[in-house]
Amino acid sequence: MEVKKCIKERRSIRHFLNKKVEFELITEILEAGIWAPSSGNIQNWNFIVINSKEKKEKIAKACYGKPFIARAPYVIIVLAETKRAEKLYGKFGKRFAIQNISACIENMLLRTHDLGLASCWIGKFEEEEIKDILNVPESIEIHAILPIGYAGEKVPAPPRKKLKTKVFFNKWGERWIKNVEKRVR
Ligand SMILES: Cc1cc2nc3c(=O)[nH]c(=O)nc-3n(C[C@H](O)[C@H](O)[C@H](O)COP(=O)(O)O)c2cc1C
Repeated sequence: MEVKKCIKERRSIRHFLNKKVEFELITEILEAGIWAPSSGNIQNWNFIVINSKEKKEKIAKACYGKPFIARAPYVIIVLAETKRAEKLYGKFGKRFAIQNISACIENMLLRTHDLGLASCWIGKFEEEEIKDILNVPESIEIHAILPIGYAGEKVPAPPRKKLKTKVFFNKWGERWIKNVEKRVR
């Protein structure tokens, strides 16, 4: 799929079909994740792939009761070795760790859509509860939960604010509206 189309068409899906997903497709999504850029190529990501019904249900509860998560055939937990990033990059470590993982997640979401599957970036969860469920060591952080399945709903794109309201030129507050409009249209 063309990149621009993939970026614009990807949606957060919160209802999944009861339809099997081939594991090979999950590996494709994970592969897209590890090809994200990362500071100094530290690749401070890890993934836990879950297909156990019992574990998915526990995780859904730890996400403040979102049953649609448990209905996805697979749930991918995206983890970050933040402490390793901090050891390597000192005061920049935390920032790098978060940015690396976010790039990885977005790659995964785009590839998910490209493969005809759907997901939703879940960032609201009780981290300690999920760590307990999955035996995650203290030094590792959980950044996102990605339920993966076939979309069971079609949702309109939540509107984006106009680009010209978000862009400044040369300094904060300086608008150059004509130029932006020319670039977007
Ligand atoms: C960091 C982050 C955290 C998010 N956390 C949640 C979440 O906990 N639950 C949820 O339903 N959606 C969550 N979302 C999805 C957003 O609500 C969604 O991306 C946004 O409404 C735009 O819709 P779209 O993804 O279809 O373009 C999250 C998205 C991001 C980037």
